[in-house]
Amino acid sequence: MTKTHPRMTVTKAVVPAAGLGTRFLPATKATPKEMLPVVDKPAIQYVVEEAAAAGLSDILMVTGRNKRALEDHFDRAYELEELLARKGDRDKLRRVQESARLANMHYVRQGDPKGLGHAVAVAEQHVAGQPFAVLLGDDLIDPRDPLLSRMIEVQQELGGSVIALMEVDPSQIHLYGCAAVKPNGFGEDVVRVTDLVEKPDTADAPSNYAVIGRYILDPAIFDVLRETKPGRGGEIQLTDALRGLAVRDASTGGPVHGVIFKGRRYDTGDRADYLRAIVRLACEREDLGPEFRSWLRDFVATEMQS
Ligand code: UTP
Repeated sequence: MTKTHPRMTVTKAVVPAAGLGTRFLPATKATPKEMLPVVDKPAIQYVVEEAAAAGLSDILMVTGRNKRALEDHFDRAYELEELLARKGDRDKLRRVQESARLANMHYVRQGDPKGLGHAVAVAEQHVAGQPFAVLLGDDLIDPRDPLLSRMIEVQQELGGSVIALMEVDPSQIHLYGCAAVKPNGFGEDVVRVTDLVEKPDTADAPSNYAVIGRYILDPAIFDVLRETKPGRGGEIQLTDALRGLAVRDASTGGPVHGVIFKGRRYDTGDRADYLRAIVRLACEREDLGPEFRSWLRDFVATEMQS
């Protein structure tokens, strides 16, 4: 059994980005969905920026087919940089270089995309027995509503693993992993997770707390993942493995805590949410916002009339 170190600092992040992105076909036929632009940055860059802002400077990206675009994006682009430098276009040059300077990037291939639990399992060697963060490559958390640093703080205080929860309308819970929770006396936004179920029907859901794509995991998760059989959709589900950790005590890598997130979040793997993310972020941008908001106001007014 993996030895656990509840108070070890969290320095590494794992970003699974090997899914097939079938909801976005044909856009994702030759491009990973995590590379789809949200305004003018690929979705995955927001995620890597979030990890770096929380002090996680070592990032392992789990990739699959079409991984080149992901690797190239976080690497230098010498020809392009030289061209922009020659033109004296410092602003574009800065934007091109930014992504390569964010963190120490590492890559591992998942092989077959057998599910999120399987994607996390391939990170075992890199994580090397420390608690680590997992950030889903298609889940955007608004940088003004910090979540990851709070989760790290809770993990450092309480040990075990920490997942992010968000209240959703009960009619939507079938789209998420769902957590049964009880108070744990550590602040209004923190609960103890007693059970988990992947994408339950509304009638069977133990709560309306949905699991969203940020986790701080104890390395004991790898022992549980090895034993985890394919679940819903024939995939190895991270939710099922977390369920195994939730019933453990501190001496064997448990328990699981939940941080309740009330901020802004976008699931860029979902087409409607992806569009909402672009509109909202474009409206808030200093450079694009004023013109775009004015166009949007006219557009909506016209739509309302028709
Ligand atoms: P999703 O279930 O949203 O991704 O996984 P998907 O399977 O690519 O999406 P659809 O339903 O076909 O459109 C959440 C995250 O986990 C990663 C995905 O890349 C995404 O960031 N993932 C999922 C993996 O890395 N490997 C897998 O086997 C499955």
